[in-house]
Amino acid sequence: MSNSDTSADLSLYGGNQNRRVTTSDFISAKARGEKWPMITCYDAMTAQIFDNAGFPALLVGDSAAMVVYGYSSTLPITTAMLLPLVAAVERGSKRAMVIADLPFGSYQESPAQALATATRFMKEGNAHAVKIEGGVRMAETVRTLTDAGIPVVGHIGLTPQSVHQLGGYRVQGRGEAAEQLMQDAIALEQAGACAIVLEVVPQELAKQITDAIQIPTVGIGAGAATDAQVIVWQDLLGLTGGPLPKFVKPYANLREIVGSASDQWAKDVASGAYPTSEQSYN
Ligand code: KIV
Repeated sequence: MSNSDTSADLSLYGGNQNRRVTTSDFISAKARGEKWPMITCYDAMTAQIFDNAGFPALLVGDSAAMVVYGYSSTLPITTAMLLPLVAAVERGSKRAMVIADLPFGSYQESPAQALATATRFMKEGNAHAVKIEGGVRMAETVRTLTDAGIPVVGHIGLTPQSVHQLGGYRVQGRGEAAEQLMQDAIALEQAGACAIVLEVVPQELAKQITDAIQIPTVGIGAGAATDAQVIVWQDLLGLTGGPLPKFVKPYANLREIVGSASDQWAKDVASGAYPTSEQSYN
């Protein structure tokens, strides 16, 4: 099948075009009114699973700081820690767009610093796009990256890298703050962003932003009106321990499955029930 094969199913989720998803596919999906899922991913094996399932975009989020490295916020992760995970996800996938988060402190200093960091993620991590947090204040940076040929996903609302400034993980954009978020979204679109993550904002505001811009909005805790949804896979599949945010609906209980299966193996080792001759060589 060639890239121009008109019989290809161009759906973003599970479509069968024989190439990587591009930013133009995002725009076309929005024009068609097609909703799509994005999921976080941090290693090659889950990348294979999500890519085979048809996810059009895999986000190597700085949430890796928490779900991979065990920190209590996203702030400690560095480029050196995140870059190998991005490269692994790219190697594990064939069709999905691989989006790399730029870590806290690796891009806020200046557009030049952001360009240097993003370039590393594109060259060394083989990322296809980067994501940065911030609206109007990041517009110049988004313009610098897109002018350099780097697709940028914006991220506004609850921006976890600013958790200390925001005073916690709480809903953003209520009341008068709504207008600022609208301006942030418009500024990002005008600067050339290819999509915008809206995190933990009132659903009505998310709808208004989604209707006001041509690029897709990707919601997380932003209600049903956004063009796409993104979720941390460990939350979605029940691997995360402890209380989950209101917007998470777990679709599996991997914590229990992994816990009980590994416990059974450990008991079998202790009792001598594993291995048997079936798992042994002559
Ligand atoms: O780091 C991350 O996983 C994210 C998503 C939650 C949007 O930024």
